[in-house]
Amino acid sequence: MKNLNPIMISGKEVLPLIEGGKGINASDGRSSGAWAHENCVGTFSGVSPDYYDENGKVIPEHYLTKNRLTRHVEMVEQSIKGCLAQAKIAHEISGGNGRIHMNMLWELAGSQQILTGVLEKAKGLINGVTCGAGLPYNLGEIASKFGVYYYPIISSARAFQVLWKRAYNRFMEYLGGVVYEDPWLAGGHNGLSNAEDPQTPQTPYERLVELRKTMNSVGLHEKPIILAGGVWALEDWQDYIDNPDIGKIAFQFGTRPMITKESPISDAWKKLMLQVKKGDVILQKFSPTGFFSSAIKNTFLSRLMERKQGEITFQKEASDEYSYPLEISETKKIFIKPEDAEKANKQIAAGYSEIKETPDDTVVFLSADEWVQMKEDRKNCVGCLSQCQFSAWSQAKGNSGRLPDPRSYCIHKTLYDVSHNGSIVDNLLFAGHQVYRFATDPLYRNGIPSVKELIERIKTGK
Ligand SMILES: Cc1cc2nc3c(=O)[nH]c(=O)nc-3n(C[C@H](O)[C@H](O)[C@H](O)COP(=O)(O)O)c2cc1C
Ligand code: SF4
Repeated sequence: MKNLNPIMISGKEVLPLIEGGKGINASDGRSSGAWAHENCVGTFSGVSPDYYDENGKVIPEHYLTKNRLTRHVEMVEQSIKGCLAQAKIAHEISGGNGRIHMNMLWELAGSQQILTGVLEKAKGLINGVTCGAGLPYNLGEIASKFGVYYYPIISSARAFQVLWKRAYNRFMEYLGGVVYEDPWLAGGHNGLSNAEDPQTPQTPYERLVELRKTMNSVGLHEKPIILAGGVWALEDWQDYIDNPDIGKIAFQFGTRPMITKESPISDAWKKLMLQVKKGDVILQKFSPTGFFSSAIKNTFLSRLMERKQGEITFQKEASDEYSYPLEISETKKIFIKPEDAEKANKQIAAGYSEIKETPDDTVVFLSADEWVQMKEDRKNCVGCLSQCQFSAWSQAKGNSGRLPDPRSYCIHKTLYDVSHNGSIVDNLLFAGHQVYRFATDPLYRNGIPSVKELIERIKTGK
């Protein structure tokens, strides 16, 4: 195992080990503070973080208004309070060691407002901001205004080049580094482009070399690349350390820190992760953001997969090809291909008799309960995304004008629920593709390690 030498991150020499930000509440002030305490970097999530009453009890997210637009405003206000609460906790726990970063999801509605609102009040508490899920053009300007370092999360050299040319070249001083997140391996949302095949992963090495070339060509030789996605044991990444073709590098861990004493996720969730097998994490495209994402195959994800498998194309008028009539409501009939009739009738017979149109001229089959829940979830929308495929909410227009997609789900509801002791069966469980390693890693044999113990282990290369 090569020596892990400290490098400059967000204005301080720290170990090149980073806890990745995880929303909602899957990395928080406590976990990030513990990482910083060990002279590493901790990242709390800025997506609807918890905040507390005067007795230190979590104030559950609540909405006083009925309209999506005004609830969106309430969501932004609560997020700012939550970020400040988590930043303070992190800062206290860190004891002034290491670095504290905040993670922001660019596709979150109001992300710029939240970031600005937090940085205005968090002087000295937050050293850096990481931001992915989309192309965060304005990140450099906002962070630089507050003298805070910024880290775009990208999955290709090309994406960085676009950001650099359009915006970041004017805000070079506070560009802390670039997070390369492997789009085939990382937990959470994945930045696969249309040209990349989810079934054909590429090793990160060539992609990192390409990114370093791009960064060097614009004078960013000294800025580190932070490698995220699939990082478990550093002995697997020896070729990447002290390698002039890659340059300064730090390693970001997303999934592995989830089983530590300081990790905020529930015991049931930790227990489940300890038992996941290879192949149980699925890279799929059900997220209402439209991005690919990686999550554990549980009942929640299986049902989405089944629904997608049961999808059938249709036409509104009968034709030679689409000649089989299918009643989808008392007043509406559509036409499907005769060869799909059996597939449709089987689903109806199995109780999936609510037939719902998607924005792609297809229908999917839901149970009556699922349909009731879907309507309820759409009604309760708080406008958390800039564009939501599930509810057709659009921050810019109020409604995107597209048909709400029944193949998707309310990500806000499910991530909030699972991170507040909700079901680990009926909610989405984001995880990276190396999660199966918990089951055989000796570190977890005698119970759950502390962050300190995990970092000690990581330093040995294991
Ligand atoms: C449960 C979970 C939630 C995540 N949420 C976010 C998020 O809100 N924003 C973000 O930029 N990355 C998020 N990530 C990605 C991590 O920060 C990290 O980059 C990634 O997990 C690294 O890959 P690994 O899981 O293989 O370690 C999430 C990952 C997980 C597992
Ligand atoms: S439906 Fe859910 S995921 Fe979509 S914008 Fe509303 S709160 Fe967010």
